[in-house]
Amino acid sequence: MYSEKVMDHFSNPRNVGEIEDASGVGTVGNAKCGDIMRIFLKIENDVIVDVKFKTFGCGAAIATSSMATEMVKGKTVEEALKITNQAVAEALDGLPPVKMHCSLLAEEALKAAIEDYQKKQQAQKEAAQAD
Ligand code: FES
Repeated sequence: MYSEKVMDHFSNPRNVGEIEDASGVGTVGNAKCGDIMRIFLKIENDVIVDVKFKTFGCGAAIATSSMATEMVKGKTVEEALKITNQAVAEALDGLPPVKMHCSLLAEEALKAAIEDYQKKQQAQKEAAQAD
């Protein structure tokens, strides 16, 4: 049912954990099953230099989170925003159709973390202008 890559990323997930002084954090819940994922990004000069995740969810959610973190590391924010759940699933050599919704967690958490980063950047800019 699952590809070897899915099994590998599920059994040995990459980038699990937290980043204490993260530039952006995104937390999302899956409307279908209630599973939760949180992603932490460390961004320097608009490049994602580090990323960690925590997923309270099924094996497909863990595997897609792991693959998504591998795919965004070293990318610019703009490039990372273009990564879709389909692209993550393809990188894992596919997911069973009933498990495709699980891959949405990673895409949505990534977008939420980038939004958080952009909001913080905006707030910093405004604070600097007010000085
Ligand atoms: Fe919930 Fe997969 S069943 S994310």
